[in-house]
Amino acid sequence: MALPKDFLWGGATAANQAEGGILEGGRGLTNTDLMPSGNDRKAIAFGTLNNLERRSDYFYPSEVAIDMYHHYIDDIQLLAQMGLKVYRMSLSWTRIFPNGDDENPNEEGLLFYERIFKELKKHGIKPLVTLAHFDVPVALIKKYGGWRDRRMVDAYVNYATTVFSRYKGLVNHWLTINEINILLHQPFVGGGLTFEESDNVEELKYQAAHHQLVSSALATKIAHEIDEHNLVGCMLAGGSHYPYTCRPKDYLEAIHRDNGEYFFIDVQARGYYPRYALKKFEREGIHIQMNTKDEQILRDNTVDFVSFSYYCSRTVSGYDEDYTRTTGNLFKSIKNPNLASTEWGWQIDPLGLRSSLNMLYNRYQKPLFIVENGLGASDNPNEDGYVEDDYRIDYTRQHIEAFKDAVEIDGVELMGYTTWGILDVTAASTGQMSKRYGFIYVDRDDKGKGSLRRIPKKSYYWYKKVIASNGEVLE
Ligand code: BG6
Repeated sequence: MALPKDFLWGGATAANQAEGGILEGGRGLTNTDLMPSGNDRKAIAFGTLNNLERRSDYFYPSEVAIDMYHHYIDDIQLLAQMGLKVYRMSLSWTRIFPNGDDENPNEEGLLFYERIFKELKKHGIKPLVTLAHFDVPVALIKKYGGWRDRRMVDAYVNYATTVFSRYKGLVNHWLTINEINILLHQPFVGGGLTFEESDNVEELKYQAAHHQLVSSALATKIAHEIDEHNLVGCMLAGGSHYPYTCRPKDYLEAIHRDNGEYFFIDVQARGYYPRYALKKFEREGIHIQMNTKDEQILRDNTVDFVSFSYYCSRTVSGYDEDYTRTTGNLFKSIKNPNLASTEWGWQIDPLGLRSSLNMLYNRYQKPLFIVENGLGASDNPNEDGYVEDDYRIDYTRQHIEAFKDAVEIDGVELMGYTTWGILDVTAASTGQMSKRYGFIYVDRDDKGKGSLRRIPKKSYYWYKKVIASNGEVLE
């Protein structure tokens, strides 16, 4: 048997894409609540369109999302019937601290998650909880400009301490910040950052990164102090870079681009700033303000495991003129002629998952956890709402085979696998419902119409067998 007996099979969602109920239960607004679907979404995500008030002419996908706020009991029931061992979810920071840094937490918000964790426990499902999944309280963006300000560290640490204490005994697996490297690509999404023309954008992004890295280390420390059984992981938007050709410049570019993303995890898993980053700061005149104890905090509090999302690999070249056929993905990359693409232009590369696992394990020698992977596709339900998603089954099967090989043949230590969007949720990049990842169909469309009814897809029954056989039955 390739996988350990206690392998954590599961599925993932995030508060901003699943919960809805954004104005209920005393909750405050968060950055992703200000991201409409449609044309302006990208500019807001990049921090170039600064708009901190909700507008009546926008449609906000997070407002209702799939309304898990009101459906969680039935949803967990469905997850339990699938045999899930672990459910990855995120807490909404502003459900607990509506302004991000209130003196006292909001009891209604705390209770909401306590009920979820108790419900999961009842069904023997372990929660894997992300503290901040594209989640920066709007009040703190207004007050501090988001993560550019050091005071975010105190707010985050206070929030983390509150939930570690409150959920002691209910949650043992934590992730500090989702896809922490997204801060560099979508600074508003990852850090609540917006920019003026006069801003030194690179410096601000790395200053914000420093604050997040220190916060993550402090949260790791506190989690361990509160409960010695707590395991804390970092989380990377993964996918290795391939050289476009075997030209030496392409290979070097691939190494540099990997470094650019792994920078965060290098700090979180090894405990210090890598020399290539310090050189970059020196070369580019980037000055990071650090407190005297920061280096020590980073060194003493590395993560217990490394988690990552994997959707695709990326192909890069050392020559600018090669970037004419780019992919639809967020990262600047070239279409790889050897790979097929999804409807949204993301390239499908199961073997790339095995390579990534090797790369990450060699680099960190810490247990790994694939906490997102899946196929975003449009589904066509029949009259009863049933979806025969063989394409999704194929995609998932190939990725499972790849990580099984990484474990069995390459010796990688892998704790678990949570597929993205175990239920259909709104897409982070586009805000669409029609970009579906789930094994459970949710009746809602891009304009917010639909009954919100949940209907298991063909992939639901398939994944159930996969879990029951610990990954042995993949047909
Ligand atoms: C990751 C995020 O970037 O990829 C998720 O952590 C997101 O929140 C997922 O949903 C897939 O991206 P998208 O844009 O297709 O939803």
